[in-house]
Amino acid sequence: MIRSMIAGVGSALPKRVMTNDDISKVVDTSDEWIRERTGIAARHIAAEGETTRSLATEAARKALAHAGLDASAVDLIVLATSTPDHTFPATATEVQADLGITKGAAFDVQAVCSGFVYALTTADALIKAGQASCALVIGSETFSRILDWTDRGTCVLFGDGAGAFVLKAADGEGGILASKLRADGRFMNKLYVDGGPSTTKTVGHLRMEGREVFKHAVANMTEVINELVASAGLTLADVDWMVPHQANKRILESIAKKLGLPESKFIVTLDKQGNTSAASIPLAFDHGVRNGLIRRGQIVMMEAMGGGFTWGGVLARY
Ligand code: ACO
Repeated sequence: MIRSMIAGVGSALPKRVMTNDDISKVVDTSDEWIRERTGIAARHIAAEGETTRSLATEAARKALAHAGLDASAVDLIVLATSTPDHTFPATATEVQADLGITKGAAFDVQAVCSGFVYALTTADALIKAGQASCALVIGSETFSRILDWTDRGTCVLFGDGAGAFVLKAADGEGGILASKLRADGRFMNKLYVDGGPSTTKTVGHLRMEGREVFKHAVANMTEVINELVASAGLTLADVDWMVPHQANKRILESIAKKLGLPESKFIVTLDKQGNTSAASIPLAFDHGVRNGLIRRGQIVMMEAMGGGFTWGGVLARY
């Protein structure tokens, strides 16, 4: 059976770091409040000229180098973002051009913070259907550009960055084992952007009811994790690493508690990166691989929840 193996991973972060103390010069907040409520200490913020496209291309190049592959091998790019360089074309096609690729397909998916699990599931399905043999799956965001920098309830939470996987079709065991995608549009007003091309003709700013999002995030992600291990014929004890979407330390603590898992099983990068939306899972995965935590053959659970609401997860053997 054809499977999608994770052949390489890479990531990119803007050079500029904005600490909580830096943010407290912009809005009425404090390092203590942000750390205590979220676990976030700093985030990277894109400078002028650093964009979703440029971060995505850098992450993709690193993932290809890690896989030992040339860009000419790639016949599919699926890029998850809610902050594209342009309303159209898809940022995926811009990355394709940067990498000199002229074959195959390239498109964006939009599922906000769940974007990477949606993109990974889509690429895996196309590989399994024989429509692609080598895919770049990218999560890239510049959320700093859609934040309301006068709203302390949201601007302290997010950061910019990108992460990428190279998926390769291979006959055998391992790779992506199971995935689940979910959405419930009744909750769109809990987390959304108040602008868009067809309504306001502007980009808009992020709006959120934090407490509601928190509650649903814990319940939805816990449910999907349990469904995923069951559908792969495994138990939670078989999972070596949890690589969750990095929104809030307290969300991760609640999930760990509900599942009865030690927090040491969770890869955490939100302290230094904040919530990078669709980029957070591949950024955390790359961090885990580069620091010798996630090793070949280990079972990794990736799960996320975001605006829509959308949520889901992917279980893989690295
Ligand atoms: N600094 C200081 N005070 C603040 C700040 C801030 N940055 N933000 C809000 N406050 C104040 C509020 O004004 C309020 O003051 P009041 O009591 O005088 O009215 C008080 O703190 C409590 O506000 P709440 O919003 O009730 O605070 P809460 O404990 O819920 O924490 C938070 C807010 C951190 C946003 C939390 O709800 C949360 O993390 N929710 C999850 C949201 C999230 O992670 N979203 C990311 C996108 S979705 C996803 O990725 C899963």
